[in-house]
Amino acid sequence: MHGSGSADRIAIEKRTSPAFEVNDPVWNSSQKYNRPARQRVLGHLGMSTSKLKIADEKSDVEISLAPVAALDTVDHLTYRTLRPAVASQPEAKLAIARDGDFPCALAIGVPGPNCDFELVSIYVLPLYRRRGLGQRILARLERAFAEEGVRIGAHFVTVDPADQGLLHFLCKAGWGQPKVTGIICQSNLTVAFDTAWFVNARLAPRYRIVPWHTVSANARTTIEAGLGQWVPADLNPYLFEKGSELSNSLALLDSEEGDRVKGWAITHQTSPDMLRWTCTFVDPAIQRTCTVLPLWLACARRQRENSTAHRFMFAVDLNQPRMARFVVKRMGPRLDSLGYACTVLKTFDGNGVADLRKLA
Ligand SMILES: CC(C)(COP(=O)(O)OP(=O)(O)OC[C@H]1O[C@@H](n2cnc3c(N)ncnc32)[C@H](O)[C@@H]1OP(=O)(O)O)[C@@H](O)C(=O)NCCC(=O)NCCS
Repeated sequence: MHGSGSADRIAIEKRTSPAFEVNDPVWNSSQKYNRPARQRVLGHLGMSTSKLKIADEKSDVEISLAPVAALDTVDHLTYRTLRPAVASQPEAKLAIARDGDFPCALAIGVPGPNCDFELVSIYVLPLYRRRGLGQRILARLERAFAEEGVRIGAHFVTVDPADQGLLHFLCKAGWGQPKVTGIICQSNLTVAFDTAWFVNARLAPRYRIVPWHTVSANARTTIEAGLGQWVPADLNPYLFEKGSELSNSLALLDSEEGDRVKGWAITHQTSPDMLRWTCTFVDPAIQRTCTVLPLWLACARRQRENSTAHRFMFAVDLNQPRMARFVVKRMGPRLDSLGYACTVLKTFDGNGVADLRKLA
């Protein structure tokens, strides 16, 4: 219901759009005494006045599916860092909205192994927003997957608490309530080294911090044996080693336990100015002592010495409630941004597919 209404609204708005309406008073008042200039502009656009009106009456924003190869034609609608990941997935689907030949909105989905798909990105250029285009393009993508038997859609997104527009949008499109899974923080070295409790963080004498790549084979085996026990499976350091920063990825050793590894921080440079502290872990048995702070301080010091990046980001899982509380309360005011990592799901059934057909 909503979708077909929105689609109608686009057509209506396009027909009456003041910027293109020949009889529009604003256009006329500014151009009244300058008809040649007006003709020049239209000539530049390759249109005569009458053609412009006719073309506008007929035009609508068209949505079509495209293969991954079309990514190059919509690079103004995606994050640079996203493109290689999508390009390496030949099964990915793109729904592209074009105003004439101009791509103005994009939705990307990647199929998963269990009759599911991930909505990797949805983006509508600002000037085209709040006309129902986002709902239409999302419905087109969902329909393409649903017709192939996909029954669940998932979207993983970081939400700025001051801008929850995307969540409202997804909710309107029939997606469920977001499940918050973690907190994503961004800051920079200037602020970090200006924060007294951070620069004063001290390591107890029994611990020392060494480069991650120097961890011994024995210590690695001990970590491996602890995976899923004292080491949560999603903080498995071996999943994150590839492409990590050698000079900034660190391990925390406990000399009183034969240099057993009690923690790590594995980092990746994601852009010239951003170092992601991708995977930080401290043995739960010593988390109360805030040992993560000297570990992060060591990261920050090495970043200052060795990296071009001035900014850094890290995530705290909600499964670590003590750390999450600390981040929100103590770090929040010192961060450049604090976002919430959310998972949003949608399930499809036969009726849903029929509705999507109407909407798309
Ligand atoms: C979210 C987004 C896709 C919405 O596109 P859109 O074309 O404006 O959406 P629609 O016009 O179809 O909106 C449909 C409904 O969603 C809800 N909605 C959309 N944007 C909203 C906002 N900013 N705040 C609150 N509700 C919103 C409204 O209920 C709206 O209906 P209404 O206009 O009748 O109130 C668009 O704003 C966008 O691209 N934002 C940037 C998202 C982004 O950063 N993506 C990249 C990472 S995935």
